[in-house]
Amino acid sequence: MEAKNIMIAVSKLNKSFGENHVLRDFSMELTKGENLVILGKSGSGKSVLIKCIIKLIEPDLGGIKVLDQDISELDQDEMDLLRKDVGFLFQSNALYDSMTVRENLEFPLRRHWTIEQREKEAEAAVMEALEDVGLSHTVNMMPAELSGGMRKRIALARTLILKPQVILYDEPTTGLDPITAREISELMISIQDKYKASSVIISHDMNCIRMTSNRVITLIEGRNYVADTYDNLMKSTDPKVSEFFR
Ligand SMILES: Nc1ncnc2c1ncn2[C@@H]1O[C@H](COP(=O)(O)OP(=O)(O)O)[C@@H](O)[C@H]1O
Ligand SMILES: [Mg+2]
Repeated sequence: MEAKNIMIAVSKLNKSFGENHVLRDFSMELTKGENLVILGKSGSGKSVLIKCIIKLIEPDLGGIKVLDQDISELDQDEMDLLRKDVGFLFQSNALYDSMTVRENLEFPLRRHWTIEQREKEAEAAVMEALEDVGLSHTVNMMPAELSGGMRKRIALARTLILKPQVILYDEPTTGLDPITAREISELMISIQDKYKASSVIISHDMNCIRMTSNRVITLIEGRNYVADTYDNLMKSTDPKVSEFFR
């Protein structure tokens, strides 16, 4: 294994909630620069997987390495440091409603930047991240004044502000209309190009997957059932795979 090109390695991950065996020996590797989609039905364990990767959930068994670090061995401070390099776009966006767009974007800087760095560089970083998502004009607005697609973009800008090496997207287009969903997918592609970021994208939006994925893993019955390109999976005659394309 070429360790330097593997950004995330998950091996034989198991997670149950009581009798609900959500992940069963799930394994995957995220390669540098790729957009890797995890495709699975609702309730198949996609969010549980991503939460294990950022250590919001403790797995029962199995190993997770993020940027070559075994996360089970990291304490809270070390994990915080790692989270600077691993951006997470929540399905809910998780914006602070009582803060302006600027304050929302500055928020991660409080934890990860020194006061001096913030005084010197925060404004430029906020404006660059907003430009990346095409929303510079919203800097003084409140989240409630924005549409669903705009809020998603602001959440993405807040993820980008720390220039993460890895971005984890949890259902980035769910709940958006088709045109807005397409715009978010295009944005994800341009972010991959601009930042050379590596991403895990959790989705069941086949348009988003077709547009953004370099590789797709189907999460079925808790396992990495099959991994291939979108085009190859689309041709699959395996009913467990082909049902996603109907
Ligand atoms: N904290 C939790 N406690 C108990 N069950 C949970 C918890 N989180 C998720 N689950 C269960 O794990 C399964 C997978 O959930 P999830 O990963 O959210 O699915 P999805 O693939 O839709 O993201 C579901 O059956 C869900 O009810
Ligand atoms: Mg989910």
